[in-house]
This record gives sequence, structure tokens and C-alpha cells, in this order.
Amino acid sequence: MKKIALMTSGGDSPGMNACIRAIVKTAIHHKVIPFGIYDGFQGMIEGRGFEMSYTDVDNIIYTGGTILGTARSEEFKTEAGRKKAVNYLKQENIDGLVVIGGDGSFMGAHVLGEDMDIPIIGLPGTIDNDIFGTDHTIGYDTALNTVMEAIDKIRDTASSHHRVFFIEVMGRNAGFIALNSAIASGAESVLIPEEVTDINVLVEQIKTQNKGRRSTIVVVAEGDDQGGAKDITEKVTPHLPGYNVRYSILGHLQRGGRPSATDRIIATRMGAHSVELLLEGKSNLMVGIYGDKLATCPIYDSINKHAVPELSKLDLLKKLRTQ
Ligand code: F6P
Repeated sequence: MKKIALMTSGGDSPGMNACIRAIVKTAIHHKVIPFGIYDGFQGMIEGRGFEMSYTDVDNIIYTGGTILGTARSEEFKTEAGRKKAVNYLKQENIDGLVVIGGDGSFMGAHVLGEDMDIPIIGLPGTIDNDIFGTDHTIGYDTALNTVMEAIDKIRDTASSHHRVFFIEVMGRNAGFIALNSAIASGAESVLIPEEVTDINVLVEQIKTQNKGRRSTIVVVAEGDDQGGAKDITEKVTPHLPGYNVRYSILGHLQRGGRPSATDRIIATRMGAHSVELLLEGKSNLMVGIYGDKLATCPIYDSINKHAVPELSKLDLLKKLRTQ
């Protein structure tokens, strides 16, 4: 193992830079050349990579985003696109590949690994936390705290104006951010993709909950079966005459910002471990974390299985709601 390629892929997440830093430093420590590829699989197809040094990763541990850039490449889904990517890795004499991203990125890496028989390691990087094989993904903790702070701020204005607020958070197919930010911010209700939403039940809940109180907050995961915050607001408002209803979509601010200590630490540990696994001759694994221990699972499992938030937390929210 003389030269390891690394890349970030899919949606960026806070902590990706800490992870890149750890991979580069660990590789150099083991006298392996780290080779950064810009903009995920698209950059690989276009042959945009470079040998990285310590100075490339100076002072990036605390920055959001990814210094390597990222992309969702359509061309990589074609055989012709993948052929270009394989040729580039061969031309650069790459012996192993570390991909930081979500399950879509792992799928790409897995296919590539088969196309050219190169060892690959996946590291879970997404704010959604929806990756099987780990308690936490890189970026989730930061995003959760960002969302909590945003909801706290909306609570101030909601209470001042006696309003009902629907707040939409990210999580295309998963309710991790929604459910846990709802608990952390004392929201009254949460709507997540893992649970069927009944608009009539929701309306009744809001009416009961709102009696004599200054505000009601409902956190909505963008992937809820009844739609996003705007759709839900439109559906409930006709049934809530006299209520002052608003919605807010937090959007991409959830993906940015300085990574939390937790994200920096897990990103650093996972990044360093990925290089060590490649040096041990391992492949097709994803590095995860359970409790405070690093663990690995077949990358195939993290592609095919779906992580689900702890649904008993919904009961907790119900118990805490004003009856
Ligand atoms: O996968 C992370 C994520 O932030 C999802 O929560 C969200 O649905 C999606 O990315 C948005 O992606 P894009 O920035 O490409 O629109």
C-alpha cells in the first residue's frame, strides 16, 4: 500500500475536514502517499486529484464543509463514466480508496471496488445519521445542535406572537434530526418518515396542546409522508380557525458551520482507522462507532440496511405534551 486516494461524496457534513486531516496525517505517518480527489466521483472521472501534504490539512479541523469539495455525480452511474474513473485511479497507481459519504457514495465505491479490484473503506459522513452500522455519522451532532438552536430562536418569536409553528428539518428518508431536535428543544410534536402522519389527529393534538399556552412547535422531517412544513401548514390551517400558524424551512444552514467536539473526535478516529484498515489488507468495510468504540461492518450492509431512530422517543414526547 503506497498510495491511498480519499474523497468526500454526496451531501457535505461538518467534520468531513477533520476526517480528511486524520486520513492525510495517518497516511503520511505510515509513509503512504495520501491522494485527495476533488468533488467526489465527478472529480475522479475528470482526473482532478493531487498528492496531499501536512500543510494541505493545517487548521482545517474546526472548519465546516469539505476542502476536497463534493458532488452527486450522474456520470458515475454510467459505465462510460466509471471506466474513466477506473482509468484515472490506475494511471495514478492508487492502491486503496477511502470514501467519506452516505450510502449512495458507498454504493459507488463498492461498484468501483469490483470494477478494478481495489480495496475500499467507507466512512459515514452525512448529517442525516441514517447509515446502518454506526450510532453516529460525521456531521449529525453538529447539525442536531444547529437545529436545536434554530428552534429555540423560533420559540422566542412564536411565544411572543401566540403562534403555532411548523419547522422543517433535513432528513430525506430518516427522522433522526427531527426526533432528537424535537426532544432537545421541547417541541410539542414531531412528524417523521418512519411514522404515518394523520392530519386529523395532528389538528386535535394542536388544539388540546395550545389551550392556554403561548406557542406550539411541531418539527417536521422533510421526508414526512404528508409532505414538508409548507404542505402540512396548508393542510392543517383550514381546520384551525383563529390560530396564528406559520412555518419555517431551516434548509441548508443545517449542513454548515463549525463541527462540534463530538464530530471532530469521531471524524478523527474514523479517518485514522480507515488508513490502518487498508494497511492491514482489509476492504469493503465501513467504519462506525458504537458507544465510544470503533467498529466495522461490511460496506454492503450499510448500503442495503436502513438505520431507524429509537421510536420509543415518540412516546416520551407524547408524555411530555400538555394533555
Ligand atoms: O443527505 C444529506 C441531505 O442534507 C439530506 O438531508 C437532504 O435531503 C439532502 O442532503 C439535500 O441535498 P442537496 O443539497 O443536494 O439538495
